[in-house]
Amino acid sequence: MPIPDHIIEFWEQRYRDENTPWDRGEPSPALRHWLATGALRVGRILVPGCGRGYEVVELAQRGFEVVGIDTAPAAVASLERHLAETRVTAEVICADLLEWEPEREFDAIYEQTCLCAMAPPVWREYSRLLGEWLRPGGLLFVLFMQTGQPGGPPYHCDITAMRELFGTAHWQWDATPPVPVPHGSGIRELGYVLRRRQP
Ligand SMILES: C[S@@+](CC[C@H](N)C(=O)[O-])C[C@H]1O[C@@H](n2cnc3c(N)ncnc32)[C@H](O)[C@@H]1O
Repeated sequence: MPIPDHIIEFWEQRYRDENTPWDRGEPSPALRHWLATGALRVGRILVPGCGRGYEVVELAQRGFEVVGIDTAPAAVASLERHLAETRVTAEVICADLLEWEPEREFDAIYEQTCLCAMAPPVWREYSRLLGEWLRPGGLLFVLFMQTGQPGGPPYHCDITAMRELFGTAHWQWDATPPVPVPHGSGIRELGYVLRRRQP
């Protein structure tokens, strides 16, 4: 089920208006944490809903084979400029993730608040695709948005609901405590590492 045109236009307009309060202007502390601890190791990695893609640039600089995807042309153009300035290479795609098929599987996926940007009725399909795109044993690094509020975006990602969505039949949740990532606005993300089980 593709996302409707007005949703694509919604995100594009947010970037054109510079109305992007989620945008830190630098890589997330969660990414830095997982790189520093060695949880995230060099390999082929997907960054879905990458936005302006500071994480894409950081990963490319560290030697990862990175694919960044976003539906907003303005975000993608900004990322392409940043990559050119820093003289590193990544594959940048402007597409709807729900309509996209990768050529090859990934060793890891870094999911930073794209899930919470999508309406809950498509979460099951999106979580299935994330599992399909990862190789068996591959890792999903995921930031679940905690707004505690109804409605969105961003939509609240209740952790009990996430444990059901990313169920143990297909995913193994790392036992380490989640990585808390605060936002200035008072909401926060919780970062988890999930391993895709062998089919
Ligand atoms: C909250 S923003 C997060 C952007 C980036 N990950 C960050 O943290 O700065 C959500 C992003 O997901 C993108 N997005 C939402 N639905 C998408 C879809 N179906 N396919 C691709 N990108 C999508 C939006 O354009 C937006 O850039």
